[in-house]
Amino acid sequence: MPVTKDIAEAPDTPFDISLRPPAFSEFTGQEKVREQLMVMVEAAKQRGDVLEHVLLSGPPGLGKTTLANILATAMGVGIKCTSGPTIEKAGDLAGLLTTLERGDVLFIDEVHALSRVIEEYLYPAMEDYKLDIIIDQGPNARSVRLNLPKFTLIAATTRAGMITAPLRSRFGMTCRLDYYTAEDLQKIILRSAALIGVEVDNPGALEIAARSRGTPRVANNLLRWVRDFAQVRAGNRITRDVADAALTMRDIDLDGLDEMDKRLLEALVQKFGGGPVGISSLAVAVGEDPGTLEDVNEPYLIMQGYLKRTSQGRVAMPLAYKKLGLTAPRREGELL
Ligand SMILES: Nc1ncnc2c1ncn2[C@@H]1O[C@H](COP(=O)(O)OP(=O)(O)OP(=O)(O)O)[C@@H](O)[C@H]1O
Ligand SMILES: [Mg+2]
Repeated sequence: MPVTKDIAEAPDTPFDISLRPPAFSEFTGQEKVREQLMVMVEAAKQRGDVLEHVLLSGPPGLGKTTLANILATAMGVGIKCTSGPTIEKAGDLAGLLTTLERGDVLFIDEVHALSRVIEEYLYPAMEDYKLDIIIDQGPNARSVRLNLPKFTLIAATTRAGMITAPLRSRFGMTCRLDYYTAEDLQKIILRSAALIGVEVDNPGALEIAARSRGTPRVANNLLRWVRDFAQVRAGNRITRDVADAALTMRDIDLDGLDEMDKRLLEALVQKFGGGPVGISSLAVAVGEDPGTLEDVNEPYLIMQGYLKRTSQGRVAMPLAYKKLGLTAPRREGELL
């Protein structure tokens, strides 16, 4: 009979432990980006200067927010976090910028969702550390220039293509994060397992890694699920077989595709004859928001070669047919 603990009496559960790596030394993978950022930090620190503005892009859950926090910690400065859609008025931006101290980081998540008006205010703030805002209304309206401390803007986006050219050009460094290899995810899982206090062997960690869509956030979430499964069904120890049984129970297949990925491929192949079809029609067919499909599901499916984006719309690749147990039709113009 397993012991059940009273929630009120239990000490802090491992769920409360942050799995976010606090420093470059604990940040696995993205070698190139990591090195570039480490050089930037060291150079700025040697000169006693403020870090340049940094733009981080890439699909969700790859470590953009994590890197922003690591950068601020490495520079030994404060960080204020906000996100594009929450900055509605110039006053909101002024409120944030005027509370910064020299060298501090302003982190704007989802920067592609900033309104054009706010973007225009941001240009002089980034370039000359000045903010011209209009105060009062009607005949009393007047422009006031605020001098800002020299600060660092770190912006993150899942939609690099939606960043306007003038905004993009004002960043000193632009970094694109890519999906992680299974080996990197395995290391991340081993580290997380140690933090949440669950025993996992190398093959067990690799099994979870291979099914994590190249994404640390997914890897950590799957680890938590496999931990639950192991605790209840497998004597609290994660091996390859235990991981496999736990993930199969959640319909996560061997290639890491989840329910929505599979529905998307099915709709594309079965309802739209393999495409080309627009993302909004696909979204209606699977009952998901088109933006989510574009940010979350598509990049991984494209990277893995299941589908491709063309100017006419999305097209299923032979691998998609194979996944569904079908034979791909030969397309016009294709050689035997
Ligand atoms: N390189 C890494 N090493 C270890 N853990 C990582 C790494 N990158 C991300 N993680 C883990 O994955 C989680 C998600 O990362 P993070 O929140 O930084 O992603 P994000 O890119 O900001 O996602 P979103 O676009 O959804 O905001 C973090 O909580 C952290 O635990
Ligand atoms: Mg984030």
